[in-house]
Amino acid sequence: MKLSKKTEAIQVVVIVFIIIFFLISFSSVLFAQDKIRGKSLAPYVPTPYEVVEKMLELAQVSEKDTVYDLGCGDGRIVIMAAEKYGATGVGVDYNPERVKEATAKVKEKGLEDKVTIILQDAMEVDVSPATVVTLYLLESSNALLKPNLEKYLKSGSRVVSHDFDMPGWKAKKTIHDKTEDYHYYTIYLWVMGEQKEEFQYIQEKVPGKSLAPYVPTPYEVVEKMLELARVSEKDTVYDLGCGDGRIVIMAAEKYGATGVGVDYDPERVQEARAKVKEKGLEDKVTIILQDAMEVDVSPATVVTLYLLESSNALLKPNLEKYLKPGSRVVSHDFNMPGWKSKKIIHDKTEDYHYYTIYLWVIGEQKEESK
Ligand SMILES: C[S@@+](CC[C@H](N)C(=O)[O-])C[C@H]1O[C@@H](n2cnc3c(N)ncnc32)[C@H](O)[C@@H]1O
Repeated sequence: MKLSKKTEAIQVVVIVFIIIFFLISFSSVLFAQDKIRGKSLAPYVPTPYEVVEKMLELAQVSEKDTVYDLGCGDGRIVIMAAEKYGATGVGVDYNPERVKEATAKVKEKGLEDKVTIILQDAMEVDVSPATVVTLYLLESSNALLKPNLEKYLKSGSRVVSHDFDMPGWKAKKTIHDKTEDYHYYTIYLWVMGEQKEEFQYIQEKVPGKSLAPYVPTPYEVVEKMLELARVSEKDTVYDLGCGDGRIVIMAAEKYGATGVGVDYDPERVQEARAKVKEKGLEDKVTIILQDAMEVDVSPATVVTLYLLESSNALLKPNLEKYLKPGSRVVSHDFNMPGWKSKKIIHDKTEDYHYYTIYLWVIGEQKEESK
């Protein structure tokens, strides 16, 4: 009996060791297959082949071209560019599963000397060899890629995007059509060197309910908000209702962060864009004319607000749905109903403007129910 207890104990120890061994080996396999670092620019939804064909037609792809698809999925765009037009193709995706699938397709078609699939974050890719870039991401992701495209693409290169516009670019051509099975789509074509919007002539507010009147945050308070959120060059700061863009401009200027300002008032957008240009921050800060309620905030690591408590409440579901854990939300003067703040500052500026700043950290903001 004693002996069998000892044997049992040995068996348990051995089993525990085996389990630990497998967990360690398996986790390394998992790790090897993990997505490489980089934020999701869009979920995986392949472009229908009919639309791929139209995108390549619109870009007038030929055998002289090098086509980069940023977020290439199963590689269908670059494969068709090579197969149908003899172009060189480079597909980039940050998901190893997609890269594996695309590489297998390239091999199956015997296109290895024409098409390369790269496992990389699209934000990090050197696109300078491209003469054509294709996109099927989101408008906010296009905005994030824009500085790289403007910096590296040669004049005359073409950029085509399925369904999503590029804020601040003037399309050379836009197609609205539907496929045989009634998939409605839009394709935008821009030509580098011709894509810059002449001074915007936007007259009307985009549809959307007013979340707050325009009252700018004093610069001293902007500084405190960014400090409280510990903004760094790794951050992407979204200001929802950005007014003259001062918050995202300071985030970029002082901390090297990427900034995205959103306002539904064209006057504010125009003013903010002019300030961004004046400061030479076009590659760091994008100002979008959009209803803050409609904005995809998923690329943000920091969101700043100076609206009203009732407007914060309206934005809350989107923030909870799209922000990643660890993202910070800071609000000037107005609380977020039902959120537990990580920190609150009450202070006054040198000229006696009394203010409050709330900081919440996503993942830690839920109020325990009483
Ligand atoms: C109080 S100001 C804050 C400006 C800036 N964030 C700051 O702190 O200096 C509010 C801004 O929200 C904008 N706004 C109001 N409703 C909006 C909506 N539905 N979508 C986007 N912007 C909105 C206004 O045009 C205004 O510029």
